[in-house]
Amino acid sequence: DGATNPIVFGGRCAGGTRCGGCERACTFPEGEPRAMRACTERVEMLARRTAKLVALRRARLKDRKVAIVLFNFPPNAGAAGTAANLSVFASLFNLLHAMKREGYDLEPPATLDALKVAVLEGDARRWGTDANILARTPVNEHVRREPHLREIEKQWGPAPGRKDTDGRSLFVLGAQFGNVMIGLQPGFGYEGDPMRLLFEGSFAPTHAFSNFYNYLRADFGAHAVLHFGTHGAMEFMPGKQTGLSGECWSDRLIGDLPNFYLYCADNPSEGLIAKRRGAATLVSYLTPAIAKAGLYRGLTDLKDALTDWRTLAPETPVQRRDALAELIQAQAAALDLAEAEPIWTGADTAFVDALQEKLAELESALIPHGLHVLGEIPGREARRDLLTAIAEIERGAPPPPETIEALLDTAEAGDALALLPARQRETWAPVFQRLAATESGLRANREIEATLRALSGAFVPPVAGGDLVRNPDILPTGRNLHGFDPFRLPSAFAVKDGAAQAERLIARHVQDSGAAPETVALVLWGTDNLKTEGGPIAQALALIGARPRQDSFGRMAGAELIPLEELGRPRIDVLMTLSGIFRDLLPLQTRMLAEAAWLAASADEPAEMNAVRRHALAYCETNGVDLETAALRVFSNADGAYGANVNQLIDSGMWDDEDELADAYEKRKCYAFGRDGRPAKQDRLLGAMLGEVDLAYQNLDSIELGVTTIDHYFDTLGGIDRAVRRARGTHAPVYIGDQTAGEGKVRTLSEQVALETRTRILNPRWYEGMLRHGHEGVRNIEAHVTNTMGWSATTGQVQPWVYQKITETYVLDDAMRERLAALNPKASARLSERLLEAHERAYWKPDPETLEALRRAGEALEDRLEGVAPAAAASA
Ligand code: BEZ
Ligand code: MG
Repeated sequence: DGATNPIVFGGRCAGGTRCGGCERACTFPEGEPRAMRACTERVEMLARRTAKLVALRRARLKDRKVAIVLFNFPPNAGAAGTAANLSVFASLFNLLHAMKREGYDLEPPATLDALKVAVLEGDARRWGTDANILARTPVNEHVRREPHLREIEKQWGPAPGRKDTDGRSLFVLGAQFGNVMIGLQPGFGYEGDPMRLLFEGSFAPTHAFSNFYNYLRADFGAHAVLHFGTHGAMEFMPGKQTGLSGECWSDRLIGDLPNFYLYCADNPSEGLIAKRRGAATLVSYLTPAIAKAGLYRGLTDLKDALTDWRTLAPETPVQRRDALAELIQAQAAALDLAEAEPIWTGADTAFVDALQEKLAELESALIPHGLHVLGEIPGREARRDLLTAIAEIERGAPPPPETIEALLDTAEAGDALALLPARQRETWAPVFQRLAATESGLRANREIEATLRALSGAFVPPVAGGDLVRNPDILPTGRNLHGFDPFRLPSAFAVKDGAAQAERLIARHVQDSGAAPETVALVLWGTDNLKTEGGPIAQALALIGARPRQDSFGRMAGAELIPLEELGRPRIDVLMTLSGIFRDLLPLQTRMLAEAAWLAASADEPAEMNAVRRHALAYCETNGVDLETAALRVFSNADGAYGANVNQLIDSGMWDDEDELADAYEKRKCYAFGRDGRPAKQDRLLGAMLGEVDLAYQNLDSIELGVTTIDHYFDTLGGIDRAVRRARGTHAPVYIGDQTAGEGKVRTLSEQVALETRTRILNPRWYEGMLRHGHEGVRNIEAHVTNTMGWSATTGQVQPWVYQKITETYVLDDAMRERLAALNPKASARLSERLLEAHERAYWKPDPETLEALRRAGEALEDRLEGVAPAAAASA
C-alpha cells in the first residue's frame, strides 16, 4: 500500500470465467487451463494511466489544467466545501495563490470571501443550487458520450434523471479560474429517497455524478484532479474492493485521470480505499490543534465553590458547611451535573467529592481546536498544548513548563533535559525525544509544496498514517499515506492491551448490572485497528478467549483458543460487525476472527463455560443448520457496499418509526464471513444473535473524533443497538472504550455524549475554534447536533438536558443565533429544525416558552433562507 495506482493486469486464471474486466470470458488452449494471462482491458488502462502521468509531468505549468474537487455532503445542508478536520476554503485559497506564484495560468480571487462567493454563490440563488453553476452539459451530449448509460438508467431512469438538472441539461457546480476549476462533487443520489437506503448492496452513480467526471476529463480537459480533503463519494461507488476492473464504478469514473487526494493524516484506513479504488496518490494533512477543554461559565463558578469547600477550615460552623453544600448542589443541578433533590448537607462529602472528580474530567478532557489550514504551522500556543498533552498521556503528569518552552525554542531534547534535576533525566529523555521530533516535524510542514509536487507528477514520499499524539513519525505531513503490515496485526502489544481493555469492559458491566456479559456486540472499524496495531481485534479475541496463532515465520496465520484454565472465566460470545472498510482492509483478520468463533463453538467444553458453543448448539437445534453456519459471528456489508445507511435515514429525517432504522441496519449488515473469508447472507442468524446481545461496544481512538463528531458511530454502534432493541424488546446498554488518553476508560454512551456535549458543543473554546472558520464551522456544529439526535433515535440514551442546553447556547441566544445565520443560513436553519425534530420524536420536552422561542427562531431562519435562496425555497 505504499505504492500508487495498483492495477491487477493479469494472473493465473482458471479459464472459462469472467473476471469482470472485459465483455468475454477468457478461453484457454486445451490442456493449458492455468496459464498466466494478461487482461487486455487492464493492460490498456495501465498504459493509459501511465501515459497520462507522463503527459502531466511534461505539461508546462502555464498550460497545465487542474480540476479541484470539493465535497458537499449531505447536499442542501450548508455542507458545500467541507471536509474532515480541514478548513477547506482557507486551504484552497492558500493553494490557488501558491499555484499562481508557481506559474500556473490562473487569477484566483484576491480574498477568501471572494473565493467563497465565487464558488458557493454566483448564480446559485437563481437556480436553487448549492453552488454556482459552472457548466451545463446538454442531455443529448450526456446520452451520446456516456458509455454506461444503460446501467445508470436502470437505477435512475432516463437521462438526465432528477439530480442537478433543469431537465434539459446536467449541472456541473463550481467555478473556474483560468486553468484551474473548482468542482462540487454531486451527492450519492439517494438523499431524500429512503427506500433506496434499504438496498442491501449498492447501485450505479447518478447521471449527474457520472457526467461530473466526464466533464472534468472531456470538457475541461484536466491533466490531473485533486480531491480536496477527507472524503468524497467517488471511491465508495460499487465494485470490487481490490484489484478493480473496468466494471467497477470508481474505476470507470476516475478512468485514466491522474488522481491526487488531500487526506487527513489520522485516517489511513479510508485513505487506502481512495488509493485502491480511486487510484489516488494521497497527500496528507495535519489534524487540528488539540487543547484542554477547560471550564466556562457555570462550570467555572462551580469550580470556585468547590475550591471554597476544599479550603473550609476545620472549625467552620455546620450552618456554613450546609449552606455551601446546598449552593454547590444548586450550581451543579443547574448544569445537570447533580440532582436538585434531596438537598445535600455539609456532611454529604461523598457527593461533593464525586463532583470534583467529574469537573476534573471535564476540565482536562482533550478536544480538537478548530480546523487545520493547509500549509499552516500551528502557532506556538497550539504546539505548547499539544506537546504538554503528549507528555501527560505518556507519563501521567506534565513536565515543568520551562522544559516545554525550551522544546518550543530549539526543538532539541537536550535543551529541555538540561532544565531537569539529573535524577529525573533518564525517565524524561525518551518523552522529550518524542516531543522534539514532534516539534521539528510540525515546523517542517510542506503540505502546499508537496501538493504542488504531486500535481507535477513527481514522487510523493510515503508514510504510515496515524495519530499525532501516538506517533510523531506521521510528520512532516504532505506525504502519501499507507497502512500497515497485515501479517503483524494484532501486535503483541495489542494482544496484551486488548485483553486489559476487555477486562475493563467486563468489569464495568458487572458494576452496572451485577453480572458479566454473555454476549457482546462489538463494532470493528479499520481506523482504530490500524492506529492501535489491532487493539479492538485483540479485544474481540480476548472476550472469546482466543489469541492469534503465528506461523513459523512469526506471521499471523489464524486463531487459537486460550485454554479455559488459563482464561479463568467463561468464554463470552461476540457478535462482531465490521465496517465495509475493515472488511476491505483486513481480510486475514476477518478470517482469523471467524476462526476464533468456530474454534470456540466446536470446543469440547462445558456449556456453562462457553457461551459461543452454547448459542451455536442451540441455533443448530432450532434451525437445523450445521455448526459451521451456527458459529458465524463476523458480519458486514455485501461486497462493494459500505455503512448501515442509518445515518442517511437520520440525516434525511424521512423515517417514522425507530424500527425502520433497525431494518436498514439488518438489511445492510447481514452478510456473515466464515473461515474461508467469503460473505454469505445470514439474516436469520444475525437476528438470532441480536436477540442474545447483553451490551454493545465500540472503541474511540482519536481525540479529534468523538461519537458526536461523525455520523458513522451512531450508524454502526447505534444501528446495532436499535436492532438489538427490536430483537430483545429492550435496549442493550451501550459502552464506549475511550482509549485516546492514558490506559483507557469505559463510559456508557450516555456519559460519553454528556462529556462531549460539555467539553465540545457547549464549550466556547470549542465552538469559537470552529466559528473562526466561518460557514464550515457552523456546518460542523450542526453535524454534532444531528449526530446527537442520531444517538437518541438509535439508543434512546441521550439525556434531555443535552438538547435544552444546546438550544440555549445556539438558538435562544440572540447574538449567537444571528451569528450562525449570517455565516451559514442553511446549516443554522437545520440546527433549529433538528432540535424541533428531537422534540417531536420525544427525545426531550422543552417548556412551552423554550418551544415557542425555538419555533420562532426556526421560522425566522426559514424566512431568511428564503430571502437568500428564493429558488431553493420555491422548488422545495
Ligand atoms: C473505518 O475505518 O472502518 C471507518 C472509518 C470511518 C467511518 C466508518 C468506518
Ligand atoms: Mg467516512
